[in-house]
Amino acid sequence: MSGHGTPIPMTSSQCGPLRGQADVPGDKSISHRALILGALSVGETVVTGLLEGEDVLDTAKAMRAFGAEVTRDDDGTWHVHGVGVGGFAEPDGVIDCGNSGTGVRLIMGSMATSPITATFTGDASLNKRPMARVTDPLALFGAQSVGRSGGRLPMTIVGAADPVPVRYTVPVPSAQVKSAVLLAGLNAPGQTVVIEKEATRDHTERMLAGFGAQITTEDTDEGRVITLTGRPELIPQTIIVPRDPSSAAFPVCAALIVPGSDVLVPNIGLNPTRAGLFYTLQDMGADLSFENLREEGGEPVADLRAKFSPDLHGIEVPPERAASMIDEYPVLSVVAAFAAGDTVMRGVKELRVKESDRIEAMASGLRLNGVEVEDGPDWWIVHGRGHGNVPGGATCVSHLDHRIAMSFMVMGMAANAPVSVDDGSPIATSFPIFEGLMAQLGAQIERRAQ
Ligand code: S3P
Repeated sequence: MSGHGTPIPMTSSQCGPLRGQADVPGDKSISHRALILGALSVGETVVTGLLEGEDVLDTAKAMRAFGAEVTRDDDGTWHVHGVGVGGFAEPDGVIDCGNSGTGVRLIMGSMATSPITATFTGDASLNKRPMARVTDPLALFGAQSVGRSGGRLPMTIVGAADPVPVRYTVPVPSAQVKSAVLLAGLNAPGQTVVIEKEATRDHTERMLAGFGAQITTEDTDEGRVITLTGRPELIPQTIIVPRDPSSAAFPVCAALIVPGSDVLVPNIGLNPTRAGLFYTLQDMGADLSFENLREEGGEPVADLRAKFSPDLHGIEVPPERAASMIDEYPVLSVVAAFAAGDTVMRGVKELRVKESDRIEAMASGLRLNGVEVEDGPDWWIVHGRGHGNVPGGATCVSHLDHRIAMSFMVMGMAANAPVSVDDGSPIATSFPIFEGLMAQLGAQIERRAQ
């Protein structure tokens, strides 16, 4: 796969107030993990609320290729009949993870300590992304890998026949790397220890505990130390996937910048390792509240209410918050354009190795639309123009990146002239109902003829 088929150019124009309820899809991170851990337990795991975006569907296909039975009922309930820890079969063909870094990295981890070989590939975006961050620690377990230059996909992993447990300090703040190591540790005897200096999303740890693995997390001077005992018998679960805060970010941010808006986004996962954007928006003066805070399926959940916020102001985003909002910087930079003053974002080097170089993609699109942006290797500053003063009018390149495409669509809803993207097709990877949902709230997004 090299892209997402035919490009879909889209234009978003200034619209009236956004009003109503935004039922965003299930959490992408949790959906991948539910399928993978379901496949690694013996028996039937039932998943409701699964995100049916391309990324997750690619992981479902991959789990079938490794021997699990994965089916979907007409009402959207998914069933995974797993094969157990160490039970993966060798796939017949190449595993295509499409656009998904999470999919490929977590699956590589989960097969790396079984005596099987698998070859992985992805789309043009995924095939540019660094994989050594995962294959380096997998080598410590005894797995071998060979890929393209620079540790890129396509890549073959030869799983370790006789794996050993590892103690590994993750060198970059990455939940994908942490999770790959933990999933590999499942089939290694003894204790695998992962240390992260900055806390990243902890869905893997929470879900492993839910499936009955022995796993502990301790905050120490070294960082967060996660210890997993290998070779557990995972017990199948019933999983209710909360809705994705990273998808909720789009209707929430749109409501803040479109005059008169009042949008309710119910049932959003508010795991503290994911919720950084919402606190940042509040710090910027957003009228954003959490209603009905509760816990569901081991994850904190709330209903978000976002209202038009005419007095947004720029802030210095605390760098220690970066990991908890790493996917939200693109849409935050759009809100920053409508705020008064500068929004300074530091400690965000990881943005350069996402589905696209997100600093570069957003900075060039914002500049084309009349917003001044400065950027360096691990920082960027958006010089806000204030409400009513964002020119718009340009076409931006989405670089096969769903969040870039959706961010510029949000910008068009409040800019003085329409904002376009060359290709909105990647939106289907994480938020396939984006256009319909935003239209229902009152947005005006059109697909343009090519
Ligand atoms: C994810 C982790 C993050 C995030 C990605 C999903 C996950 O990536 O950007 O969208 O589900 O573990 P990194 O772990 O590489 O930061």
